[in-house]
This record gives sequence, structure tokens and C-alpha cells, in this order.
Amino acid sequence: KKCTAIILAAGQGKRMGTKVQKQFLNLGGKPVLWYALYAFENSPVINDIILVTGADLVEYCQSEIVEKYGFCKVRSVTAGGAERYHSVWKGLCAMGDKENRIVFIHDGARPFVDEAMIGRAYEEASASGACVIGMPVKDTIKIADENGYIASTPKRSLVWQIQTPQVFDAELIVSAYREVIEREQELLSQGVQITDDAMVVEYVCEHPVKLVQGSYENMKLTTPDDLEVAEAFLQKRL
Ligand code: CTP
Ligand code: MG
Repeated sequence: KKCTAIILAAGQGKRMGTKVQKQFLNLGGKPVLWYALYAFENSPVINDIILVTGADLVEYCQSEIVEKYGFCKVRSVTAGGAERYHSVWKGLCAMGDKENRIVFIHDGARPFVDEAMIGRAYEEASASGACVIGMPVKDTIKIADENGYIASTPKRSLVWQIQTPQVFDAELIVSAYREVIEREQELLSQGVQITDDAMVVEYVCEHPVKLVQGSYENMKLTTPDDLEVAEAFLQKRL
């Protein structure tokens, strides 16, 4: 099957709080976004890449990232939307032909995705149609009530922290996203926050989504202290 990677770089990085959005910050001499593009560009299972960025940054990404570093698999640089799921939907709409295709959705703010992970996710998504990369949690997780008291404790061995890529049969993920976009007002009025792609599938259908092992290094740059952690992981790789 053909594989398209949608790389998300249209966020504002409010929690990072830097002037330049986190996906464009310097990490080891290259923009953070470079690392994810490099991993997908060099993965033998990936045929093409759709890069989603801010409407005002499409030209910048095209010339200063895609052309400058020679990412030939990038076939479109597309403007994203206000929320992550809007940006994903824009990316899916730019994809074209859905038949016999697998879609990888990946956060541009996760530089340490690697080829082995992409390969594992490809195998699983080809076999079952839907999987997400993640890792078992190390800490005990508590579910809180609205007043800040513990409501319950899920069995730790069953709790995973979810990363990206999240990988789906293209027809499945496009139809799931279409329904969520159509029912957006209803979901918003219920207070539902859509923070990952698996949730979209969970909402609209019963299709099982397999958990596939990523790595603890496959972190998302979210807050300023994450930059130091990323620098340390990068040093380890060199
Ligand atoms: N993203 C996107 N479009 C949005 C929001 C997020 O493409 N409207 C992307 C981000 O660029 C990032 C990934 O989705 O690569 C994960 O989102 P997150 O870590 O929440 O990034 P931001 O939304 O930029 O950060 P914050 O929530 O702190 O503002
Ligand atoms: Mg965000």
C-alpha cells in the first residue's frame, strides 16, 4: 500500500511561550521540524509527505525548509487550522486518492520518531487498519474528580502515554474525521476536546486501534524544559 505522512506544524506553541513557534526553534543546528521530515523522507515505506503549517508560513516552509534541505517527498505544503484536528483535516483533504493508502499523522514537534517505529506502525496499520504509537506509563496515574480529589486509579499496566505517528487506513480516517468535523458543534457543546487522532476513530466507530511501542525518547516539545531534554537525547544520538 502507498503511504502518505501528514506532518503537523501549524500550532502556536503557547505552552512553550517562545517568539518563534517551537517547531522552528533551533535544535542541534537545524529546525525542530527538520528531524521529523528527515525520518519520513528517509523511510522506505513512505511515498509522500504533506506538511501542514500556519497560513502565513506556507512560503517560508516551502523555501526555507523543504527546498533548503531537499525534502523531495514533500508534495504539498498546506495551511492548517485553529486546532490540531482542523490541521489534520486540512492535511487529509490535500491527500487526494484514498484507495489502498495508509496515512501517518505525526506531530512536527516530535523530532525523535525513527525508522523502526515507522516500520512497526506500517506493519500493524497494514494488517489491522489503525494503530497509534505510545509507551506504557512509568508513574501511577490517577483519575481526578472536578474538585481535585482522586476518583480512581487505573491499573498501571493498562495505561499508555500516546505519541505519534498515529497510522490509519486512509478511507477509515477520512470518513471518521469527516463525521467529527460535521458534528463539531455537538461535540464542542458536550465539552469534548479532540487531542489525538485515535479519539476521532473512537468517537465515530468501533474500529479497534492497536497500541504499538514507540520510545520514551519520542517526546513532544511542549514546555521550555523539554528543550533541554531534547538536546540531551540529540547528544546521545550523535
Ligand atoms: N498543531 C497544528 N495545528 C494546530 C495545533 C497544533 O498543526 N492548530 C501541531 C503542532 O504544530 C504540533 C502538534 O500539532 O506539532 C502537537 O500539538 P501541540 O503540542 O499542542 O502544539 P501547539 O498547539 O503548537 O502548542 P500549544 O498547545 O502549547 O499551543
Ligand atoms: Mg496545542
